[in-house]
Amino acid sequence: MPVDLSTTIGSLEFPAPVMTAAGTAGHGAELSAYVDLSSLGAVVVKSLSAEPWPGNPAPRVHQTPSGMLNSVGLQGPGVAVWVRDELPGLVERGARVVVSIWGRSVEDYAAAARSLRAAEDRIVAVEVNLSCPNLDGGAHLFAHDPVATTDVLRSTEMLEVPRWAKLSANTDRVVEVARAAQSAGAEAVTLINTLIGMIIDTESRRPLLGGVSGGLSGAAIHPVAVRTVYEVRKAIPDLAIVGAGGVTDAITAIELILAGASAVQVGTATFADPRAVAKILDGLRTWCEAHEVSQLRDLIGGAHQTG
Ligand SMILES: Cc1cc2nc3c(=O)[nH]c(=O)nc-3n(C[C@H](O)[C@H](O)[C@H](O)COP(=O)(O)O)c2cc1C
Repeated sequence: MPVDLSTTIGSLEFPAPVMTAAGTAGHGAELSAYVDLSSLGAVVVKSLSAEPWPGNPAPRVHQTPSGMLNSVGLQGPGVAVWVRDELPGLVERGARVVVSIWGRSVEDYAAAARSLRAAEDRIVAVEVNLSCPNLDGGAHLFAHDPVATTDVLRSTEMLEVPRWAKLSANTDRVVEVARAAQSAGAEAVTLINTLIGMIIDTESRRPLLGGVSGGLSGAAIHPVAVRTVYEVRKAIPDLAIVGAGGVTDAITAIELILAGASAVQVGTATFADPRAVAKILDGLRTWCEAHEVSQLRDLIGGAHQTG
């Protein structure tokens, strides 16, 4: 019997539990040279704002001894241009497309959501990236504040496709924020975005990244992702979770699933190997066969069972 890798996230069914993570597989069908995009659970595209955005000054990405630090600054073409230029290539390849949106104010998110309405028949969900500075609210990340999170999600209510809230683990309020996201209509939370870090060039004695601080990702943040998924699952068992953070192989994916994630996203691993997301999906199948697991969904939240 083939292993059943299908999963459910809120009201949506996915044939596979592995997706790309926003911002790590381009804006469109870039990965299709390496991976059959239709075989993935979904392709989550780089966060888009309503208008084009230039991003941060270079350098934008740096390897640290443990993890990658980026301050890409969400550079992008804006929703309307993306819908015209990139979405058709994804649809043509049979990808289930999840569109990530971001903003610097509540109104920015509303504008991005409004522009996406024209494409709702070709996408499966919208991931609202709340891990951005709220310029109306003292530059704290939206995802650090349950009220700001609620306001953003309410401002995207006109969307008919399910909305997921992408949250940050740079706060001790993640459970509270996840609860706010759920009450404001999010069908799922994606946990976690990058952790804020910084690196200094000891020769110039100045911050090395153009954006000064940046987001740490990759294997270094995996235990934080596992802990965050576990905490949110324990506190809010009826909220679907998509896990992200240092998924590099089947084992790291299974860990997030046992902690409570219904699916995982692969980010930094794709930079090392553009086939990573497909290899991790294959690895899950092999792992399930070896452990006589006939349905992957039976593993979801398994680490919470007592006895
Ligand atoms: C270069 C880079 C760009 C990213 N861009 C986005 C983005 O546009 N939107 C978003 O929600 N997350 C973005 N992320 C965060 C990832 O989607 C993911 O949450 C995080 O990197 C943790 O997963 P990983 O350890 O597998 O990379 C980015 C990460 C990296 C490394």
